[in-house]
Parts: sequence; C-alpha cells; structure tokens
Amino acid sequence: MNESHESEKENMETTTRPSSLADVANAKEQKVPGTRAMGTGLETRGIHAWFGNNHVLSDVNLDFAAGTVTALIGPSGCGKSTFIRTINRMHEFIPGAAMAGEVLLDGKDVYAPGTDVTKIRLQIGMVFQKPNPFPSMTIGENVLSGLKLSQQKVSNKDELLEECLERAGLWNEVKDRLGAHGGSLSGGQQQRLCIARALAVRPQVLLMDEPCSALDPGSTLRIEETIRHLSDTMTIIIVTHNMQQAARVSDYTAFFLSDGGPGQMIEASPTSEIFSRPRDKRTENYVTGRFG
Ligand SMILES: Nc1ncnc2c1ncn2[C@@H]1O[C@H](COP(=O)(O)OP(=O)(O)O)[C@@H](O)[C@H]1O
Ligand SMILES: [Mg+2]
Repeated sequence: MNESHESEKENMETTTRPSSLADVANAKEQKVPGTRAMGTGLETRGIHAWFGNNHVLSDVNLDFAAGTVTALIGPSGCGKSTFIRTINRMHEFIPGAAMAGEVLLDGKDVYAPGTDVTKIRLQIGMVFQKPNPFPSMTIGENVLSGLKLSQQKVSNKDELLEECLERAGLWNEVKDRLGAHGGSLSGGQQQRLCIARALAVRPQVLLMDEPCSALDPGSTLRIEETIRHLSDTMTIIIVTHNMQQAARVSDYTAFFLSDGGPGQMIEASPTSEIFSRPRDKRTENYVTGRFG
C-alpha cells in the first residue's frame, strides 16, 4: 500500500502549475456534447457503495455525454475503481459488496429488474490497470475472444480483427504475426490488445481503470491517442493519477475524495476548468499537487 502510494506521488506532476495543465487541456480538439448521434450517454444517480459495513462511496451523481472522455481523479482509496465497477455491474460480484442508486445508459437503468447482466458488460466494456490478455491464446484469438460470450455472429472475422486492432492502434505492429501468443507482446502492446478485445464486441461505453500506470511513456502516449480516436464513437471514462494525462486525454474531469468518511465526488467540470479555476479548494489543492 505504502509503496504504490509513493510511486503514485512520483507520477504526479507536482511542479506543474494548474494554468499549464489547462493549456494542455485546451490544446486538443474540443468536443460539443450532444452533437453526435450515438445515444444520450451515461448518467449515474445517487450511487452509494459498501463493502460489508464499510460505506466507501456516497451519492455520486455524474453525467457522461456520449462521445466524450471523462477522467476520474483523486487520491488512492477514494472509491474511483469501486465507482466504475458499479457502472458495468462488476461491483456486485465482490463478496459482501452492496450498492444503491441508478446507472442510466441511454436513459435505461442497468440495474432494472430483468436486465441481462452479460449484455450490460458487453455494452459497457472495461480495460484494467494491468494488461490481462489470455497469454496462451494467439493475438487474433484474444481479440475475438469476447464474441463467443456475446453470441455475436460475425460474417468476416478477418475484417473485424483488422478493424479492432487498427482502432486500438496496434495493427501495424502485429499484422504479420497474428498467430503469435498474446503473452509475447510488450506491456504497452498487451494493453492495446486488451483494448482491441474490448472493442470487438462493440461497446457503447469503455471504462479504463488506470490503463497506463504500468506502461512506459511511449506506450502511454500511444494509448492516449487511441482513446482520443475511440471517443469519436463511444463514451470513455478513465481513472488516472497522472494529471498531465487527464489534461491531454479528457474533455471532462471529476474529482473524488474521501475526507475521513465515504468517498464523494467533489467537483466535475470541463477539464480545462478543473485545472485553471477549480471551484472547490480541495480540488485546487489536489490538482496542484499539495496532497494526493
Ligand atoms: N474488494 C474489496 N473489499 C473490501 N474493501 C474494498 C475492496 N475494494 C476496495 N475496498 C475499499 O473501498 C475503498 C475504495 O477503494 P477503491 O475503489 O479501490 O479506491 P480507488 O480506486 O480510488 O483507489 C477503500 O477504502 C478500499 O480499501
Ligand atoms: Mg483504483
């Protein structure tokens, strides 16, 4: 715990002034929510989460416009991972875990009685901190591995394979060795393979929990480019401890904090505002590296 906390601190750009992060945030193409014909997006209403008696998340209300990237930031243990696990119904599979609230995907609660949980996980995909390809499956098999679960019929697997690897920014590096094992790739390539695998089932929403924290800077930039491209056609939520990354990749940023009690969402704003004129003093302290 202590060790990972230290390395997170090192990752944070403690010397960067917030105004320069705002410049980074403004440097990318700005998105106008609601201008893309891809549904209304995702909304969470009054999300609470518990592990046993431990109330870890309180009353999180957030809107994620379709076709945008939202970064979730905040110190370790404030409930970011728990929050995104409530979005695709993974939280409920942890023994002792409970939740309350609504998660609306295109206006429909993913917790409504009779909802097919498997279908929700296909609509709302997830990429984890540590790349987790199936090491003994080939690159091609990895990408297509979600299709069985979804019982999706694909007329042209080769086409889908190329499309997903292309969109994940990996095609050029692996097109000549699709039969190699997933485990033979570098860490950064494995993470892009996991993104390609998530894309193959055509999710509307992609949840990414610190997807670059185990990667070198070059791989990180490749994945950030991939995220920007993907957000043209899907809604992306990314947890990150790297403020530069939040500035580079996200349209909106939400700051979470656990102030002794359960984690709360303190402030959500366009990313350039979070870094230039945060409304809450605690947000300002965090983004300027005064704690975290
Ligand atoms: N599987 C679990 N069982 C019990 N407590 C957990 C579990 N996962 C997380 N927690 C607790 O929930 C709180 C929020 O954790 P988490 O969502 O992982 O925070 P973050 O992702 O912001 O670091 C922490 O207090 C953590 O110890
Ligand atoms: Mg986490």
